[in-house]
Amino acid sequence: MIEYKEKMPTVEEYNFLNEKVGWGKREDFIVEEALKNTLYAVCAYDNEKIIGSARIIGDKTLFLYIQNVIVIPEYQSKKIGTQMMNKLLEQIKKYKKINPEIKVYIGALKGKEKFYEKFGFITRNKANLGEAMILKI
Ligand SMILES: CC(C)(COP(=O)(O)OP(=O)(O)OC[C@H]1O[C@@H](n2cnc3c(N)ncnc32)[C@H](O)[C@@H]1OP(=O)(O)O)[C@@H](O)C(=O)NCCC(=O)NCCS
Repeated sequence: MIEYKEKMPTVEEYNFLNEKVGWGKREDFIVEEALKNTLYAVCAYDNEKIIGSARIIGDKTLFLYIQNVIVIPEYQSKKIGTQMMNKLLEQIKKYKKINPEIKVYIGALKGKEKFYEKFGFITRNKANLGEAMILKI
């Protein structure tokens, strides 16, 4: 049975998931710091083995970012990503109680937009905003 836990992944779990989807490992101290500074995370387990995770980073009242939504390949297309997104959205509702105008961003990878559209996200273009940018130096 798949179990969803509202907790940070461990450094080992984080690197395992990232490697599984081809994003590679990061040095332990870098991951440790990132997880320490994360607002909220959900992890999916199959019999205590991690199979997915998703995080919210941000400042709690003005800006939130959804990051690192991962389901390992063997478990994809089984609605595990959906369940984790629903957990994140429940948590976002709590932040919205403090500031209903809070902005929630997601930097979707190319081709993943459709997945996020199911949860109400729209592209910046459709929101009449400029393209999202990333520092490339
Ligand atoms: C993207 C990802 C998180 C989706 O999780 P998942 O558990 O496989 O997806 P679900 O089974 O919950 O799918 C939910 C819906 O989204 C759709 N969907 C899932 N992945 C999609 C994709 N890449 N493109 C378009 N639609 C997608 C499914 O078809 C499904 O649609 P339905 O409700 O009409 O049946 C997962 O495939 C993954 O981890 N991929 C590799 C890492 C990655 O790219 N993460 C996203 C970074 S932006």
